Amino acid sequence: MVHYRPPQEFVCNRSMIDEADRETLGRKWPACWEDAASLLEWINPYDRILDKENSPFYQWFIGGKLNAAENCIDRHLSERKSQVALRWEGKQGERRTYTYYDLYREVSAIAAALRELGVKEDDVVTIYLPKLPELPITMLACARIGAVHNVVFAGFAPDALVSRMQRVDSSALVTCDGSFREETMIDQKRKADAALASLKESPPVIVVDRLGTSHDTQLGKTQYDYDDLVETYVGADVAPVPRQSTDPLFHIHTSGTTGDPQQMTHATGGYLAGVARTSRTVFDLSPGTTIWCTADIGWITGHSYVVYGPLLSGATVVLMEGSLRYPDRHRPWKVIERNGVEILYTTPEVIRTFMKWGESFPEAHDRSSLQLLGTVGEPISPDTWKWYYTHVGEERCPIVDTWWQTETGCILISTRPGIDESKPGSVGPSLPGIKIQIVDEDGRELPPGEPGYLTITRPWPSMLAPLDGDRYWVLAEYWQTFSDPRADNWRYFTSDQAVVDDDGYVTIIGRDDHIITVDNRRLGTAEIEAVITTVDAVTEAAAVAESTAGETTLCVFATLKQEQWDRNVIRNAITDAVAEHIGEFARPANVIFAPELPETHSGKTMYRLLECVVNDRPFTDSDTLRNPEILGELATIWNWK
Ligand code: PRX
Repeated sequence: MVHYRPPQEFVCNRSMIDEADRETLGRKWPACWEDAASLLEWINPYDRILDKENSPFYQWFIGGKLNAAENCIDRHLSERKSQVALRWEGKQGERRTYTYYDLYREVSAIAAALRELGVKEDDVVTIYLPKLPELPITMLACARIGAVHNVVFAGFAPDALVSRMQRVDSSALVTCDGSFREETMIDQKRKADAALASLKESPPVIVVDRLGTSHDTQLGKTQYDYDDLVETYVGADVAPVPRQSTDPLFHIHTSGTTGDPQQMTHATGGYLAGVARTSRTVFDLSPGTTIWCTADIGWITGHSYVVYGPLLSGATVVLMEGSLRYPDRHRPWKVIERNGVEILYTTPEVIRTFMKWGESFPEAHDRSSLQLLGTVGEPISPDTWKWYYTHVGEERCPIVDTWWQTETGCILISTRPGIDESKPGSVGPSLPGIKIQIVDEDGRELPPGEPGYLTITRPWPSMLAPLDGDRYWVLAEYWQTFSDPRADNWRYFTSDQAVVDDDGYVTIIGRDDHIITVDNRRLGTAEIEAVITTVDAVTEAAAVAESTAGETTLCVFATLKQEQWDRNVIRNAITDAVAEHIGEFARPANVIFAPELPETHSGKTMYRLLECVVNDRPFTDSDTLRNPEILGELATIWNWK
């Protein structure tokens, strides 16, 4: 494997803090996390770093009080009030710029408005907005008054919005009139209204006017125009509410292995400390650095490295609405050129799309501002890594391949640019303070080179926070596999399979559960299958990821109650059901009607073998199947589809 030393130009120009080596920091755990906490402004200092009472959930920085909005905005005002905090590029070519002072004023106005609408400390506000500046502004307005935000990806269908609002007992909703998908207008307000109609009581709703005069939106009785509220409350002095370090900052939903989306909560102090520290260690973010993370804010990557990490660091965030290929394939490179982007953080899937379009697009633009490249979300192949390094980074920008999850809150495994060398395809070593182990099914540590389950063996500050009552125990299943909370063998089971080499570099093999990533969004197959089996004719369904020319789409296998049904009608019913109940982005690209699904003797569907079918891979380890003959049949159906 070729190793890449950190490019000399990067090492000389950047101010990477060469932290003490991992061993030393490891011995100092949990005290090693104090330097992360010291990156934040505390209203009240904490008196204990860690509380082990609630094992397996640990709580961090006990007794400390702080406010997230104050940390992201107010603390910068004395030194960089006029510095640009946010640059936004709209789908129609519009551009907007917000300084830290602009953010302060608008966040305060919306915070005052939310209060006036009855939102109190600890209430939950759901935000259902596409990539508009009003989205991070509303998140910070919630944080300012101690409300808990619950961002729901704007592409979700009304049903998905309802379940995500009900689960957290949301007291208010912030949405917009609509947005554009390329040429098509999406009526976001209609989706929100459909969701509100199925709630027992309609909460107050704030509506951002995205479409302007091109679209007339009717506001109901408890619905308010965002701009009118800003105009009314601008200049309001809303003191940041001191929050306990352990108080929730936000809820976020992600896909789990059950049919229901899983709700996660991140606590204020620990989450912010983890994100601030990794923004510095992994991205070398400092005041004024311009970062463009292409993730949607509705997902954890957007929370941590579009909003909180960059703003805590006093950096400049680039936010781009719409698609990378519209109005043409030059758009991403124009965004980089126009905004002088220094750090680009994206996914292997996006990089593969760039590769498919060809290097002529990046090469037609000035990329000299770029200094560091990042990737996240799925394993990156060495070829894709090298293309990114050569054609985007001009062989002078280090690449950080960052491993983490919604549950972890911040990056846990990555090389540190300017310090560690890169091995394309391998994520890198765990960050200082993070201890990992690859184990077998019985929880025994495996030696380097042997693939197994990736586990984290020490708590870290931005780990997901405990929830009240029943939900606590639902989430506790994450730890059940290997953890015995009474013993000193705490372990977080990541659901990823991985292998580590002699240098401690981790290579991720893939997920060990039924979670797939489509269009950069994590989806649980159970959630999709539950929707498909509501279609009358369908008995059983299995959803798998299909990779075609670098793009991942969803492929569904379905068995039918009666063979003589009109298959085109059922195919449409299946794809429409998924688009309607989950979202258009999840619409399956292929539906295969199967006589039966490959199953083990205990009746478990063998997803791995279905993935072999759709990705034209040879079948391996199929001996445990109850019905091995079905594989050949499915391969034939697939090839004739
Ligand atoms: O399987 C791992 C994969 O994404 C999963 C987490 O998904 P989510 O919670 O949606 O968060 C995505 C962004 C943080 C992980 O369990 N994953 C994440 N980063 C990498 C990765 N797989 C390989 N390499 C990575 N760098």
